[in-house]
Amino acid sequence: MSGARLTLDPAFTVGAVDPRVYGSFVEHMGRAVYGGIYEPGHAEADEDGWRGDVLGHVREMGVTIVRYPGGNFVSGYDWEDGIGPRAERPAKLDLAWRSLESNAVGTDDFMRWAALAGVEPMFAVNLGTRGPDAARALLEYCNGDPGSYWADRRVANGVREPYGVKLWCLGNEMDGPWQMGQKTPAEYGRIAAEAGKLMRLVDPDIELVLCGSSNIHMPTFGTWEDTVLDLAWDVADYISLHSYWDPDEFAARADYLASPHRADRMIEAVVATADAVAARKRSRKKVMLSYDEWNVWHQLRNPHHTRTDGPFAEAPPLGEDDHTVTDALVVGGLLLSLLRHCDRVKVACQAQLVNVIPFIRTLDGGPAWRQPSFYPFAHAARYGRGEVLRVHVDGPTYATEEEGDVPVIDALATHDAESGTVTLFAINRGAESVALEAVLRELPQAAVAEHLVLADDDLDAGNTPEAPDRVVPRAGSGARVEDGALRAELAPYSWNVLRLSGA
Ligand code: AHR
Repeated sequence: MSGARLTLDPAFTVGAVDPRVYGSFVEHMGRAVYGGIYEPGHAEADEDGWRGDVLGHVREMGVTIVRYPGGNFVSGYDWEDGIGPRAERPAKLDLAWRSLESNAVGTDDFMRWAALAGVEPMFAVNLGTRGPDAARALLEYCNGDPGSYWADRRVANGVREPYGVKLWCLGNEMDGPWQMGQKTPAEYGRIAAEAGKLMRLVDPDIELVLCGSSNIHMPTFGTWEDTVLDLAWDVADYISLHSYWDPDEFAARADYLASPHRADRMIEAVVATADAVAARKRSRKKVMLSYDEWNVWHQLRNPHHTRTDGPFAEAPPLGEDDHTVTDALVVGGLLLSLLRHCDRVKVACQAQLVNVIPFIRTLDGGPAWRQPSFYPFAHAARYGRGEVLRVHVDGPTYATEEEGDVPVIDALATHDAESGTVTLFAINRGAESVALEAVLRELPQAAVAEHLVLADDDLDAGNTPEAPDRVVPRAGSGARVEDGALRAELAPYSWNVLRLSGA
């Protein structure tokens, strides 16, 4: 068995974890809303139609914020259609997903669901077919004190107290040719600056997220960020990053497992660009990162990953991927990449929560179940709190096409001084067990509290409605603190959570 060595010292930190990195995303897309979080008449639904089984899984997952209502959907969305009495809401064509949008769920409904789920909302405004005027009206509807037109419309709809929604995305993927109202960087930079200006006049306390490139492969990646930050610098608190990883895009499983390092590169490139704009402007402002769409997405394998023809249908199945054990390891790696950059990545949203590219699946009228990818997220959200510790792994490496030589063991640790816990997250990306030795510095009382392992002999195994717990985390054995070091065996192709108390 080969060995890997690292050192844990609470004095050497990257920064504090912002709990909002454990966000997710609910878009009016496919069966995310209708048949996902909302299914009136379902045996598990409450009197308002919210599925209790899904809510239970969302709470267990530890999601902190949820982005809404899109995604590509938001770029054609008239938010006014989704408020007021349901019977009077219009059904409209959603051109993003070639769907029929009933508007049965809208702003106030989502806010009710968010309260039940215990999550903070993150709203996106339509800068595709609409613009600053619709954005400031929506903000007034949400956050305005009673006494003005839109705030009073909210009161008339039964909600007196302003919602106080803090986080707002200025549009979605505005560089994409698929986007309704696609823009050049100059067009987007200006409209975002104006929308942000008006929104801040309505509510100076909001935080604004500027659209970055839709992905690292966009031909304008880098120059887009440079231009839009230049033009909308005064309103930008965050710039967004989006990425999806498709297993079939990679020559070998080993390359797919190493692919989260692409997120490291993307984050570092966007940070460098934002800081270069700051330098040019002689500004001390640090624009933070909102990685508000990230996940694995089986686009090449799943013919229903998008919808470009056929009749406009209500809640057609879209992107209902079956996640495997391998996907869960990649998701774990992506979480480590976000946490490794916690000094700049303050917000992140796994996309998406239910049914669409999901961690949670449902059947209409049937059960809800958790995919293998659910678990690394739930572990990180629960235990990845406090400060991220600097961790350098000394151990075996392997060669990949895209990322060069990468460590077989990807690891990261957090120290939560409040609970006195150090948590080491470690992914073994190799076919052999690895003996891990983590030297403990300034941690004299540390003792192993728990070792959780997600692994399976079948790397393509997943969970199904018939076998919802085929892949679940199990307790590891043999982890111990000995001679000032944590020692544990990391099984082949495994996600590990090693929790130390007394820290
Ligand atoms: O999350 C699915 C889609 O992926 C979103 O609507 C869009 O923003 C991205 O391209």
